[in-house]
Amino acid sequence: MLETYVKKILCSRVYDVAVETPIHPAPFLSERLGNTVLLKREDLQPVFSFKIRGAYNKLAQLTDEQRAKGVVAASAGNHAQGLAYAARHMGVKATIVMPRTTPEIKVKAVRARGARVVLHGDAFDEALAYSQKLVKEKGFTYIHPYDDPDTIAGQGTVAMEILRQHQGHIDAIFVPVGGGGLAAGIAAYVKYLRPQIKVIGVEPTEAACLKAAMDAGERVVLSQVGLFADGVAVAQIGEHTFEVCRHYVDEVITVSTDEMCAAIKDIYDDTRSICEPAGCLGVAGIKKYVEREGCQGQVLIAIDSGANINFDRLRHVAERAELGEQREALLAVTIPERPGSFKAFCQAIGKRAITEFNYRYHDSGEAHIFVGVQTHPELDPRGALVQQLCDQGFPVLDLTDNELAKLHIRHMVGGHAAQVTDEVVLRFEFPERPGALFNFLNKLGGRWNISMFHYRNHGAAWGRVVAGLQVPEDERSQVPEALASIGYPYWDESDNPAYRLFLG
Ligand SMILES: Cc1ncc(COP(=O)(O)O)c(C=O)c1O
Repeated sequence: MLETYVKKILCSRVYDVAVETPIHPAPFLSERLGNTVLLKREDLQPVFSFKIRGAYNKLAQLTDEQRAKGVVAASAGNHAQGLAYAARHMGVKATIVMPRTTPEIKVKAVRARGARVVLHGDAFDEALAYSQKLVKEKGFTYIHPYDDPDTIAGQGTVAMEILRQHQGHIDAIFVPVGGGGLAAGIAAYVKYLRPQIKVIGVEPTEAACLKAAMDAGERVVLSQVGLFADGVAVAQIGEHTFEVCRHYVDEVITVSTDEMCAAIKDIYDDTRSICEPAGCLGVAGIKKYVEREGCQGQVLIAIDSGANINFDRLRHVAERAELGEQREALLAVTIPERPGSFKAFCQAIGKRAITEFNYRYHDSGEAHIFVGVQTHPELDPRGALVQQLCDQGFPVLDLTDNELAKLHIRHMVGGHAAQVTDEVVLRFEFPERPGALFNFLNKLGGRWNISMFHYRNHGAAWGRVVAGLQVPEDERSQVPEALASIGYPYWDESDNPAYRLFLG
């Protein structure tokens, strides 16, 4: 089987459209992990993913008659773009069926590459069924996104380039897995020529169809598939692809959404490029592998497989990156509701940076604060922080792995507080540097009760805070003087209609 694939890979026609992408070093990550990490930059293909290779090779293998009739695929992702691009280059009519719910941006991207887009059904299954109907009715050839030997061979050219470009020692290659086309192509080529190199598949925990099949010894259908890494959100590994992967992929590593976000940041830090969630899987897998094996000095290559991410999603990625790195803990902490208790809490936190602080007055006895604190996986793990706070009399609920808290509750801490009278609402800006928030809370905290506080570190030079202070009418005149001593610019927002409507 391997020899057949290797011949197919060597004869693949991909370079009419695909480029030979470079292998780039990842110096920061290499230094951190104590291994040489290299990135095969498939995000630099004309359609920003490797999918163009398999799609073009498949088209190139069709007969003239098949090409004349046209091709069809059901996809809203990278396969659609790769196929549209390849088909236009070859002068083949391509029809792409997408569910009606597909975001306009994806529809436009495929149309811009010259394919005809048909919107059909509400879910992918219906789009797929319709594309099969077009095969029967119009005589189009269906181009599978991964489960086809010619597509697998096209993707395998990635491995051919790696072994040619990096002729020195390689310990392992980490490959993102969706339906398994890329992994099968790479495994076939590498295991034929350099079998001592490990080929390791990487999947999101929520979409681990190859792992499930390897464990079961047969292809299984996942009952649910997480969509965060949309490029690899596949419920069942392909038939052809599994036949190769089950024998030639050494193991499959799974990673969480937060670990993917952290890997996107790692790639950004080293290359100043942003990849899509599926694209970072190789790097996320390397990090887990190194942690598990404790290996040093190895040469580890990750396929950076694509960069098609909607800009809007970056907010979520940035929000989660530190959690994925175990550099942030999210905690619900109970503190006494009285002047000075914020200060006591900050003292308990010690030198650690506060990354988020959300609080709204609840009752006169105790206050629940939603707080983010910087931690370090080895030097200052979150377990130690939680223990320390408990020892100092602050009950803690660890929310770091709580999806509801991370996605929603953190944005919802607030509401009207009927018992709060005399509330003055102030918005501040202060230069973001270690200890600045602590100083700020310290100076603000002792005098008047804090009835509301919101802060989130956004990695910007300026920190922004909104705080509510309970200042009796006859002390109002002392506020400007007290704030002047803090020394940060501020705005009185007590009459802001947004505050009145939602919090006041
Ligand atoms: C960016 C990206 N990475 C990885 C994959 C997984 O490829 P395969 O389905 O061949 O396993 C895909 C599939 O579309 C992808 O778009």
